[in-house]
Formats: sequence, structure tokens, C-alpha cells
Amino acid sequence: MIPQDFLQDIAKQHSVSDREMEVLLPAMEGKATKAIAKELNISEVLVRKRLSDIYKKFHITGKGPVKLTNLQKLLFTKYQASVAGEVATARPVIDNSPVVVTTDSVKPLQTQDWQEAPDVSVFYGREAELATLSEWIVGEQCRMVALLGMGGIGKTILAVKLGKQIQQHFEFVIWRSLHSQPSITDLLGDVIAFLSQQQESELPEDINERISLLLQYMRQHRCLLILDDVESILPSSGRFGNYEQEYENYGVMFKRLGETEHQSCLLLCSQEKPKEIESIEGLKRPVHSLPLAGLKLEDAKKILQEQGLKGEEKWEYLIRCARGNPFALKIVSAIIKDLFNNNVAEFTEYETWVFGDFRLILDQQWVHLSKLEKQIMLYLASLEKPASLGNIKEEISELSTSEVIEALAFLKKRSLIVTKSEASATVYDLEYLVKKYISKYHSTK
Ligand SMILES: Nc1ncnc2c1ncn2[C@@H]1O[C@H](COP(=O)(O)OP(=O)(O)O)[C@@H](O)[C@H]1O
Ligand SMILES: [Mg+2]
Repeated sequence: MIPQDFLQDIAKQHSVSDREMEVLLPAMEGKATKAIAKELNISEVLVRKRLSDIYKKFHITGKGPVKLTNLQKLLFTKYQASVAGEVATARPVIDNSPVVVTTDSVKPLQTQDWQEAPDVSVFYGREAELATLSEWIVGEQCRMVALLGMGGIGKTILAVKLGKQIQQHFEFVIWRSLHSQPSITDLLGDVIAFLSQQQESELPEDINERISLLLQYMRQHRCLLILDDVESILPSSGRFGNYEQEYENYGVMFKRLGETEHQSCLLLCSQEKPKEIESIEGLKRPVHSLPLAGLKLEDAKKILQEQGLKGEEKWEYLIRCARGNPFALKIVSAIIKDLFNNNVAEFTEYETWVFGDFRLILDQQWVHLSKLEKQIMLYLASLEKPASLGNIKEEISELSTSEVIEALAFLKKRSLIVTKSEASATVYDLEYLVKKYISKYHSTK
């Protein structure tokens, strides 16, 4: 239960009026709109209207009852966060500055280093994901959280948005991208230099000792370490491979940060789940991962809106084709803007897609697939209709059914295929964009 005075404070901060407050309090207790209307002697329509105004004030989107659940989650997370962070809501939150020193009485020093993290001033939706992540990191004090999903889906921007939202709960916040594949020696040197405020002049050469030193800081202080583009240092031969020798100690570091007790959190963003996380998660340690899907329809529409697109009757179709992937949508929107006079409907008539740099993301996924997975994808791309397990088995006869099922499960997890129920059996098809991509770049036909 969230105490009423906390609710009142937070509502005031969001300019919720007294009238709206009368509706918010019972709604948070789970009372139905009908009961609230009766209690307040007003119409149910008016209750809904006030709730809808409240959702807007908290930037809650979604449909019907989901909004209330999202609001409840958000307020609960804020409450937990405020308990964990002691009067967190009263603290100033200063965005976009590389180093911030506050004169906070609870934690005298708050230092951040966002290096070249992207600007998050344009950010849509993701309320539920933000609530879950902050609940794990601030509420449950998880030691390691992985944000997973295909390229362009919005991991980076979400991690930065989250980091800025919860920064007041940490003494140190540091964001680093592994895109340029730094050696772990360099990365640890960089992070430790920051955490020690350049006091640690002689760092040990031995990697394990460096990891121990990092852990020492993570025990002594509450730090949030965000590592982005982690897939860059993961095995290049997909999940069956081993780390390249140069990067295998990253695996050791993930394992130690996940298994050892400390008061900090490593938040990592990656297209693939590092295997160390998989094994630790299984043991119910404070380690979680969140797979990220595309943006919700109404949030994805804002991306098209931002570009000033028209032809609204086809927006939903366009967004579904891209599975709400904001990067794919941004690229195609720019083309529609430039070449189709902003008209989405005109573009969709051609039943085509323009990949641009989004192709690189799919290329990367493609090279990570096993031979069998590629065979299945090529087969599905060659068909007009979806195929059943029986059809696939017939086509690739040298393999056992269980091997094919395992491959299909993996492809589904990667958002590469979709399953559909038909009268006689479940059938499998490629995702719309994936089919277009394979037919265009990999099909031999
Ligand atoms: N929730 C969002 N609101 C607005 N723009 C978004 C959102 N999510 C992603 N984007 C945009 O889509 C693009 C890809 O997002 P990014 O975070 O870089 O994806 P990833 O890290 O998963 O590859 C960026 O240009 C980003 O600004
Ligand atoms: Mg990214």
C-alpha cells in the first residue's frame, strides 16, 4: 500500500487537482469507476474523464484498464524508490551534464559520467518497462540487469532515460559503450579511475585483481554502471561459440559482478544475452533480464507524427510491418517524407520496404545464426504461405524433429519468425520485414 500523504505529495508535483485527487485515491485502492462515481455522487463518465486527465499528467499511455495498472505500477515504483533513496523526490535531478556535484545531505557526492550517451529529450512511451526496471534496480536492488532486444528497438535510449530517472539513488553513475570493443583492461581502468575520482593511480595489471578492485568500489559505494552495446564483445560465432580470447574476461567480470555481494548495479544492454547471465538468473540471484519488444502502436505513431507524415489510414499497417521497431520506422519515414510527399498510404501501395542502415542490424543477426537456422529461414522465405513443422522436416530431412523445434524456438525468441494457428496445425512464417530482407539479400532465386 502507498501511504496517502506520499500520494498527495506526488500528485501535487504533477499538478493533479483536488477534484482529481478525490478520484485518484479510491482508484489506487482498486475501486471500480462505478463505485467511485456512487461514492462521490458524480457520473461515471466524469470519473473516467478525471482519471484520463490524471493519466495525461503522469504521461501514462495505453488502453483501458492497462493505464490504471501502469499508473499503479509507476506510483508504487516511485514510492519504493523514495523509501530506498530517502526523500528522493525532493532532490534536484540534473540532466545532461557530464559531472554533477550536489550538496545533498544524505549522499554528499553525486557524480555522473554519461560520455556520449544519446540525448533523451524526445522519448515516447515505455512506462511499463521504466517501472519494471526501476523496481528491480532501486526497489529490489538488483546487482545485474540485462536489457535485451534486436538492434534499433530502443535499448540505448531506454537505459539512458532510466539512468537519468533513477540517478538520485546512486553516488556514482557511469555509462560506457563497448561498441569500439575496448579491452577489458582499458574499460576497467576507465571505470575505476572514475569511481576513485582519479585517486587510484597504480592499477593492478592482473585482470582478476582489477575486477576485485572494481568490486571493492561497488561494495563501498552505490554505483550504477551502464554498459551498452555488449554484443560487440560477445562471441561472434553466435551462442555456440566461445569469447575471443581478448574478451573472455568480460565473461568473468559479468559472473563476478552477478555473484558477489555488493550494493551497486550493472545494467547492460545487448542484442544477445551473455551466457553468464543465463546461468546466474537460473539460481534466483538478484539478476534479471528484460527482453524489449517494439514500441506500442500509439507511441510508434508519434515517430511518424514527428516526421510530419500523412496517410494515417496506413500508419498502423506500416508500424506492424516494422513490429514497432523505432529505428526501422525512422528510416522508412525519412524516405516517405522525401520521396512520397509524406504520404504513408502511397508508399505502402508498393508492398516494399527500404532498409537503409537497418539492414546492418539484420545482417548482424543473420551471421549469428547456425547453418540449420539459416536453412529454415531460406526455406520459409521461398514460400508464398507459412509452413508447418511437417513441411520444414520434409525440406530439411537430415535433421531430427527436436533439432528443428529447437531452431524454431530460437528464431521465435529473436523475433525472426511468427507462429500462426491454422485448423490442422501450427504454422511458421518469417516476420514481414525479415522475409523482405531475406528475399532481397540472401535468397538465391
Ligand atoms: N521510446 C522511444 N522514443 C523515441 N525514440 C525512440 C524510442 N526508442 C527508440 N527510439 C529511437 O530509435 C532509434 C533506435 O533506438 P536505440 O535506443 O539506439 O536502439 P538500440 O540501442 O536497441 O539499437 C534511436 O534513434 C532512438 O532515438
Ligand atoms: Mg544501442
